Amino acid sequence: MEKIKSNNSSIVFGTDGYESFLSSIKLKSYSSIFILVDENTKKHCLPVLLRENLDFSDSKIILIKSGEKNKNINTCERIWIELSDNGADRNSMIINLGGGVITDLGGFVASTFKRGIHFYNIPTTLLSMVDASVGGKTGINLGSLKNQVGIIIDPKMVLIDPKWLKTLDQREIISGYAEMLKHGLIFDVGYWNSLSKIEKISHEQLEPFIITSILLKNSIITKDPYEKGIRKILNFGHTLGHAIESYFLNSKTKKSLLHGEAIAIGMVLESYLSSILLGLNKQSLIQIKDVISSNFPKIKFNKRDIENIIILIQHDKKNIAGKVNFVLLKTIGEAKVNVVLDYKIIHKAFSFWEE
Ligand SMILES: NC(=O)c1ccc[n+]([C@@H]2O[C@H](COP(=O)([O-])OP(=O)(O)OC[C@H]3O[C@@H](n4cnc5c(N)ncnc54)[C@H](O)[C@@H]3O)[C@@H](O)[C@H]2O)c1
Ligand SMILES: [Zn+2]
Repeated sequence: MEKIKSNNSSIVFGTDGYESFLSSIKLKSYSSIFILVDENTKKHCLPVLLRENLDFSDSKIILIKSGEKNKNINTCERIWIELSDNGADRNSMIINLGGGVITDLGGFVASTFKRGIHFYNIPTTLLSMVDASVGGKTGINLGSLKNQVGIIIDPKMVLIDPKWLKTLDQREIISGYAEMLKHGLIFDVGYWNSLSKIEKISHEQLEPFIITSILLKNSIITKDPYEKGIRKILNFGHTLGHAIESYFLNSKTKKSLLHGEAIAIGMVLESYLSSILLGLNKQSLIQIKDVISSNFPKIKFNKRDIENIIILIQHDKKNIAGKVNFVLLKTIGEAKVNVVLDYKIIHKAFSFWEE
């Protein structure tokens, strides 16, 4: 596989991918090229990209601080100013070289600067390869609330190259594994079975599966680019997962969780809700909990944490007219959207997690 057609974008791989990527950029004769990095991708990825591609030697580098807490409007404003100060015009473009924070924020900055300039994604984390850089969702957080401001707009192209994973922390690899497991849970039981059998999670073990996750996600987002229906299934684990992520991000006493770590817990909680409301069988529920408990940190929640998390889910973007809409599983491999439920059973889901 060398090229996948996405909505208004394409996803390219490997050596041929580099060629398509460079020729797409050449063809557009951009007036200037900006490369957005954080301190880690500046150190580990940028020198490699520049060494391999002389075409970028005239590009300008924009550096931001890494981390979810910087995915906000202040960082956007700094980038808009830097673009403007460096003479960016409507024919300039941005290459987002980094993880999901860079691709989400860089995509949003590009698509709003001068009413929109082109952007290209080079995802450098597992999570951004299998999920964040595909599908055109861009955005930033509002205070501690996740992804409240943003738009759905495609990058011109996404270049996937697993070589970046060599310098990534193991914790970040596991975080990306969460979204891969999600793809199996909502859509493909065979994929779930293959992924859940891997004994020691590493980037080498997961590399062969990156393409499957991209294909699964792409098949969903091309059917429903603006999340009117089936695309919502990609939010499995995210109603509670995002609330948990926001709560930890905002807490003065708790250590932040990575996106995938929060989503993994969200998937166990929402699988429990699935077993009560949609009859997901007990054996599947236990299997999901076992796979996640054995690979992800076992976080504990007290009564106050749970109450605050339940308050936060009321800001979920899937809510309509004050109702919280969950995506739940009927079976492993089949999800149902728009399930409304009583908050009381969320407490039981947390008790199941703590068991
Ligand atoms: N748009 C979407 O559809 C979508 C889907 C899933 C997640 N997301 C978003 O993605 C974000 C999480 O993405 P992430 O997990 O990639 O986080 P991230 O961008 O914060 O990257 C994780 C860490 O790895 C570092 N890093 C990146 N590449 C590296 C490399 N090759 N070597 C060494 N270090 C490297 C980064 O500097 C950062 O410290 C969240 O904000 C989440 O909301 C978006
Ligand atoms: Zn996610």
